[in-house]
This record gives sequence, structure tokens and C-alpha cells, in this order.
Amino acid sequence: METRRKFLTGILGALGAAIAGLTVYPVFKYLSPQATAGGKGRVTIPKNQVGVDQAHFFQFQGHPAVVLQKSPGVYIALSAVCTHLGCIVQWVPKKDEFLCPCHGGRYTIDGKVIAGPPPKPLPSIPVAMSGDNLLIG
Ligand code: FES
Repeated sequence: METRRKFLTGILGALGAAIAGLTVYPVFKYLSPQATAGGKGRVTIPKNQVGVDQAHFFQFQGHPAVVLQKSPGVYIALSAVCTHLGCIVQWVPKKDEFLCPCHGGRYTIDGKVIAGPPPKPLPSIPVAMSGDNLLIG
């Protein structure tokens, strides 16, 4: 009887640890700083992946970045890392602005701060065009 109780206790402990791990890991992954490693080169994105007033998120030098087509043929690329505490901004097309979900920081389509705690604009990234592609960086 004692052996059976120990076995069940062990199983429940292992199951609890597994559930805790599955719960905590995504939170840890979300809150942990972004990796700094990454390629230093340009990123090539096909123009057809970036519609007018649409945001296309990608990794640039190991950090989240975003490219938008502000108006037909006019593109802008920005870091997608909020300048407050480093959360990843979201694009809100109905308002033509970026929103940081962490503390409500808001940025214009050009990355300028509209409201909230961000101390600086989103850094811009050079964009060039080559045929059907955007060369970013
Ligand atoms: S991290 Fe973006 S507003 Fe605080």
C-alpha cells in the first residue's frame, strides 16, 4: 500500500512539474529579451507580401522589425521593439498607428511617439527597391 502511494505521489509530482513547465515557458519566452544574435545583412522581402497599409513583421539583425507600404509604392521599415521596455508593437490599421500592448505606448506610421511612456521613436531601417523585392537594411 505504501509503495503504491509513493508511486502515485511520484506520478502526480511529475505531472504537476510538467504542467508548470508548459505554463511558465511561454510566459518566460515572451518576457525574455530578444536574442541579439543574427545576420548583419540585408533582408529581402517580396513587394507582394506588403500590401498598402499592411504591416509585414520580420526579423532584422536578430530583432523584430516591420515594413509597411504607407501609400502605393512608398515603403517604410522600423524596428518593432518598443523603446519603453522592449515589448513588440502591433500594427493597428484602422488607426494607422502602432500600439504597444504592454503599457499602451502609441506610435505613428512613421514611428513617432503619439502617447504613452515610450521615450523615443521606433528606429527606422533603410528600404530600397530592387525589381519585385524590397531590400531592407
Ligand atoms: S514596453 Fe511599450 S509602452 Fe512599455
